[in-house]
Amino acid sequence: MECTNPNPKIIIAVDGYSSCGKSTFAKAIAARLGYIFIDTGAMYRAVTLYALDRGAIRSGVVDEDAVEALLDEITIDFRFNPVRGASDIYVNGDLAENRIRTIEVSNCVSAVSAIAEVRRRLVAMQQSMGRSRGIVMDGRDIGTTVFPDAEIKLFMTADPKVRAQRRYDELRAKGDEVSFDEILSNVLARDHADTTRAVSPLRKADDAVVLDNSTMTVDEQMEWFLGLFDQRTAAGRR
Ligand code: DC
Repeated sequence: MECTNPNPKIIIAVDGYSSCGKSTFAKAIAARLGYIFIDTGAMYRAVTLYALDRGAIRSGVVDEDAVEALLDEITIDFRFNPVRGASDIYVNGDLAENRIRTIEVSNCVSAVSAIAEVRRRLVAMQQSMGRSRGIVMDGRDIGTTVFPDAEIKLFMTADPKVRAQRRYDELRAKGDEVSFDEILSNVLARDHADTTRAVSPLRKADDAVVLDNSTMTVDEQMEWFLGLFDQRTAAGRR
């Protein structure tokens, strides 16, 4: 009897605006297909954290030359955490999963991710992670720059007010005293920074499929995605 792999190993690129639920959805796709999941935003955050720790960012001012000088000494790796059922990021061997999500890192990561040499290094790392395929990678430039030949490219978007409301609910649930207007202006500012930076700005790849999840649940998104996956991989399975 012939053995067939029910899930052919392809590359799935998930790009889009911040706070659209990209990572949650990309992680769910990877779990469903038995693929590796890589959150590239975490990698830009890891470089930012290291730069803060090493004094290359002071009082919110990023010294680009100093950040570039640190790149040779940073190692980033992901290790599966069975308790979370997801991978944690390590910077030079130290667990950094929680520290990369602080507001201090969030405030500086746009500036760090705009440095061309930072992008060059991280893109090369991401390309080597995808060498054996069977990967879902989420970010801003995956379908345009990292894997322009990805078999499936998703471009996720949602109404800014819906995105702000989701983040507001999340932060409030954690006990953070934030206002909705503050969150909405942060979402709009990040959209502006991501789409207007000189190097690899966020844009939809010509062959990406738009997923506007303003009024969709994760289950509805998954159902939609599995239809697309079947359609795109059917030729390879016949
Ligand atoms: O997905 P995130 O919000 O954790 O990403 C953090 C920052 O990194 C965000 O400001 C955009 C940037 N980023 C990027 O420039 N390219 C990527 N591939 C992923 C993230």
